[in-house]
Amino acid sequence: MSRHLIVGFSGSTASNSYNSKLLRAFGELVPKDVQFQVIQGLETLPFYSPDLEGEKLPEQARRLRDTVRSADGLVVASPEYNYSYTALAKNVIDWLSRPYGTHSLVGKAVAVIGASQGLLGTVRAQLHLRDVLHATQSDVLSRPEVFVTQAASKFDASGRLTDAPTRELLAALVDAFMEHSGRPAAEQVA
Ligand SMILES: Cc1cc2nc3c(=O)[nH]c(=O)nc-3n(C[C@H](O)[C@H](O)[C@H](O)COP(=O)(O)O)c2cc1C
Repeated sequence: MSRHLIVGFSGSTASNSYNSKLLRAFGELVPKDVQFQVIQGLETLPFYSPDLEGEKLPEQARRLRDTVRSADGLVVASPEYNYSYTALAKNVIDWLSRPYGTHSLVGKAVAVIGASQGLLGTVRAQLHLRDVLHATQSDVLSRPEVFVTQAASKFDASGRLTDAPTRELLAALVDAFMEHSGRPAAEQVA
């Protein structure tokens, strides 16, 4: 039996991104029997265009779709840009949302997390993201919600999430997401 697989991507292109660090922390918290993979290099994905479907489908877009289709769950960690999530994250979702009705997000378990340096911790970005994921027929985990505020004080110099309450909350989300994404019961005991 293949291992339960969770894939994730960061909506940030910053080399020192708090959201990429938060995604890494998510990966540290998944159980040992679960495989976790971060989808990298999304900043080079072309802007979605219907003209690039079919024979012209970029190899990177094909791999992205295959990766998400093969996963049991997807986690998205996006910064808030101008009261919404980032253009990079939207582009990824647009690529994943086609072909209409048969794409890899239909019924896919999705978790949304985010970190900002301000006091709202990506609340507005996550609201938009949840709305858009609803359009894709994704199965988005509703609780717990993880809004990492004042991110600069919550990670150490090596980029590790060190704030104990935030780590606990993220661990609760990971736990809930294991069940939400259908992690097999037998493997939970192992
Ligand atoms: C173009 C731009 C717009 C931003 N808009 C917001 C915003 O609306 N709300 C907010 O809390 N932070 C905003 N920020 C700050 C970012 O959320 C913050 O820098 C965050 O750390 C970026 O995430 P990252 O570290 O994962 O790259 C904005 C930053 C940029 C560059």
